[in-house]
Amino acid sequence: MTVALLPGDGIGPEVTGEAIRVLDALGISHSEHAFGGNAILEQGTPLPDETLAACRGADAVLLAAVGLPELEGQPVRPEQGLLGLRRELGVYANLRPARAGGIDLVIVRELVGGLYFGGKGRGADGTWFDTCEYTRPEVERIARRAFAIARERGGRLTSVDKVNVLHTSRLWRDVVTELGAGEYPDVPLDHALVDSFAMTIVNAPATIDVVVTENTFGDILSDVAAAVTGGLGLAASASLGDEGPGLFEPVHGSAPQIAGRGSANPAAMLRSVALMLRHGLGRPDDASALELAVDEALDSVKTADLGGTATTRDVGDAVLARIG
Ligand code: NAD
Ligand code: IPM
Ligand code: MN
Repeated sequence: MTVALLPGDGIGPEVTGEAIRVLDALGISHSEHAFGGNAILEQGTPLPDETLAACRGADAVLLAAVGLPELEGQPVRPEQGLLGLRRELGVYANLRPARAGGIDLVIVRELVGGLYFGGKGRGADGTWFDTCEYTRPEVERIARRAFAIARERGGRLTSVDKVNVLHTSRLWRDVVTELGAGEYPDVPLDHALVDSFAMTIVNAPATIDVVVTENTFGDILSDVAAAVTGGLGLAASASLGDEGPGLFEPVHGSAPQIAGRGSANPAAMLRSVALMLRHGLGRPDDASALELAVDEALDSVKTADLGGTATTRDVGDAVLARIG
């Protein structure tokens, strides 16, 4: 079993350091590859061929974060490597759980379609455009994944769209409704509009169970869900396709303001390792043990984002002491 590690930029290498200690403790082999801003500066591309080949050949891919301030808005950007990797691996289902206190929800974000991947460019009249596009099979596969997750949890599904404005949302709502009635009649289904649903996440997160939504909506709503459960330092994700390795990554970015200080919270990264153990490497018991270890460590060892003074390494030490 081998894991392709992509530390990336900013705080990425720092939180990856703690993940490596956990992988070593569990006897899981890994190899590191250039990706993101550092790869652009050294090789001119955010996703070098060697990196993509290593990811394809691995059992799972663990990515920390990409993004460099000096490359923001440039023609060649670190984020293009991330979108390219997601598309190349075909990981269309991005699971973003958010848990804390009475909150236990999971956002199932469509990851390789919609506004991110539709036609984009510049018209002859100088108009710049991005288009949101979905096909029926693209909506069906993400909806099936979300219904299956809701069924497995004995839970409910909320489909989030903007059907009062967007054409693609009409397809989205029709397909989800049809699948629900035809294949998942046992899973309670409701629909919500994305703007007021953002407010529901803030005001009543404990009422939410499983959410399925379009790529851009899922990006924004998952940061909101992270915020109400303690912040981006805690939020993990799993991106899965129908075959091949999954991609596991924190929801947060490269946090350039705090990079290089050893103060980043590695919990989101370590929880992403747990998701990888469960969904990518077939080691559910190790996943549960790691999740428990992170929960317990966070009770007493808090980095600055949680109001404490602990370092990245302190959190790693506390987690390792519990799984070691
Ligand atoms: P960000 O997630 O990097 O940071 C947002 C805020 O959360 C900042 O205040 C940051 O300090 C804090 N934060 C994030 N992770 C933390 C952690 N582990 N511990 C403590 N605090 C943490 O978002 P941003 O500032 O909007 O973006 C910065 C860069 O990251 C941009 O270049 C963006 O494109 C990129 N980005 C990458 C990914 C990814 O690689 N998956 C995700 C989001 C953003
Ligand atoms: C995320 C990030 C990425 C996204 C960016 C960095 C491309 O914000 O994973 O949430 O928008 O998907
Ligand atoms: Mn995001």
